Amino acid sequence: MERRGSVYVTRLLPAPIMERLREICDYEVNAEPRPATREELLRGVRGRDAVLCLLNDRIDAEVYDAAGPQCRLFANYGVGYNNIDVPEAHRRGVWITNTPDVLNDATADIAWALLFATARRVAEGDRLMRSETFSWQPEFMLGMDITGRTLGVIGAGRIGRNFARKSRGFDMKVLYAGRRPSPEFEAETGGRFVPMDELLRESDFVSLHVPLTPETRHLIGERELGLMKRTAILINTSRGPVVDEGALVRALESRTIWGAGLDVFENEPDTAPGLSALDNVVMTPHVGSATVETRVNMGLVAVANIAAALEGREPPNLVRA
Ligand code: DGY
Repeated sequence: MERRGSVYVTRLLPAPIMERLREICDYEVNAEPRPATREELLRGVRGRDAVLCLLNDRIDAEVYDAAGPQCRLFANYGVGYNNIDVPEAHRRGVWITNTPDVLNDATADIAWALLFATARRVAEGDRLMRSETFSWQPEFMLGMDITGRTLGVIGAGRIGRNFARKSRGFDMKVLYAGRRPSPEFEAETGGRFVPMDELLRESDFVSLHVPLTPETRHLIGERELGLMKRTAILINTSRGPVVDEGALVRALESRTIWGAGLDVFENEPDTAPGLSALDNVVMTPHVGSATVETRVNMGLVAVANIAAALEGREPPNLVRA
């Protein structure tokens, strides 16, 4: 009988993904309601042909050693892959894949949800309604206008572009910053490429859509927050360490900026001291891609990558960087 590939899955995924996986390989899954411990991970990957891993699994030389030289692929369930030592994988001829595109809408949508919630104080209003009463008055819980304002998008990749395109319904002026101008971004959004400092000075809303790399760690710190308008709002749905969270807490406390909407945190699942005491921050627990449809689609992309690798074909979503 032909040998089916053997795959380790570091966390139980939605049922349609597990079903699809069952069709193409033999797998073992960490079925605990928590991430695999380091020991479980090192044991689980041993002798596998491929591994389906999550953003909270650190994949490095020790894991590649534990898996063994027959292991062709680590398929990350997510578009970001800062949890994976990609250069080390490439040195060993191990493929790394991610799940781009299928989560563009969901992630852009959560950035909009946070923008609205922060600008219009939705979470604060919700807390108030649950704990006390209110009396309508002209200067009660004033927020910030959104329509017609300037939107600054840092990172002009697929998610940043999707997010910026959605601003068209709100007649916003779009500025963007990144490594280089993007004709596609400009065609889709009407955005203008500017140096990052200019974007920070001019924008009413600044939204981050960059991957986490050594260059983007603490891209937004005290200096950058100081350049922003006192009425501006920062949105981060990319990766927590892109923002110096301690500096952000100080900027929010001193009203250097008006507010922040955050889906990601520097030391997840913890937040920087002082952050959760602030009313001018709205926080969600890293749920950018967390919709029923998107989480299934991400898994199907990961399984397609595994299927290709098991057949000896180059997987479609290879990370080349
Ligand atoms: C990703 O895909 O990188 C997200 O952060 C997880 O949905």
